[in-house]
Amino acid sequence: MSAGDLPVNHHADHPGFSGVMGALVGVVLLAMGRSVARLAAESTAVGPEDTVVDIGCGPGGAARVAARRGAAVIGVDPAPVMLRLARAVTRHGTIAWTTGTAESVPLPDASATVVWSLATVHHWQDVEAGLHEARRVLAPGGRLLAVERQITADATGLASHGWTRQQADAFAAQCISAGFHDVEVAGRSAGRREVWAVQAVRP
Ligand SMILES: C[S@@+](CC[C@H](N)C(=O)[O-])C[C@H]1O[C@@H](n2cnc3c(N)ncnc32)[C@H](O)[C@@H]1O
Repeated sequence: MSAGDLPVNHHADHPGFSGVMGALVGVVLLAMGRSVARLAAESTAVGPEDTVVDIGCGPGGAARVAARRGAAVIGVDPAPVMLRLARAVTRHGTIAWTTGTAESVPLPDASATVVWSLATVHHWQDVEAGLHEARRVLAPGGRLLAVERQITADATGLASHGWTRQQADAFAAQCISAGFHDVEVAGRSAGRREVWAVQAVRP
């Protein structure tokens, strides 16, 4: 089966990040994630009035970009090694780091104005449950953003960690089914990478 035929969470069986290898991946993400972090903040027009929830925050690069723009930020990730790294490199006091998953976000209803998940939806265990949680924690008018690297249908290994156009469109359709409005799929450049950005609004 090619990546084009696979579900949007085609790496849900990934074993997760831990130990020395997890820390190494975290350091690589710190170095490589800056362009996507800027793209996320610009696409959602994050500002001081926002509360941003970063689902699968990893080492927290995008969370820090949002905090520098004045937002209150909560970084959520299931991997203790990622949260340790995020805490270790963060000087900004307005970010809270918490253990959780897309499927079980440890935050109250309507507590966020922005929810984003960057290079992470392809790892979610359950996309329907994750979108239900995103809708629950977003206040009315809140913005949802998912960004994934553009991949080809025949990609394998590390090169398969992302979405084909078909997978981006499938995620957009799931957003509509989950009750989001104004759902848009766009191909964007993030540094030297081409990514899919799926944006939606919680009515
Ligand atoms: C490729 S990393 C991306 C990290 C970060 N968003 C970035 O762009 O640097 C994927 C992250 O998703 C997290 N993750 C895996 N499964 C998850 C799930 N079900 N819900 C939320 N996060 C998950 C991993 O622990 C990891 O930190």
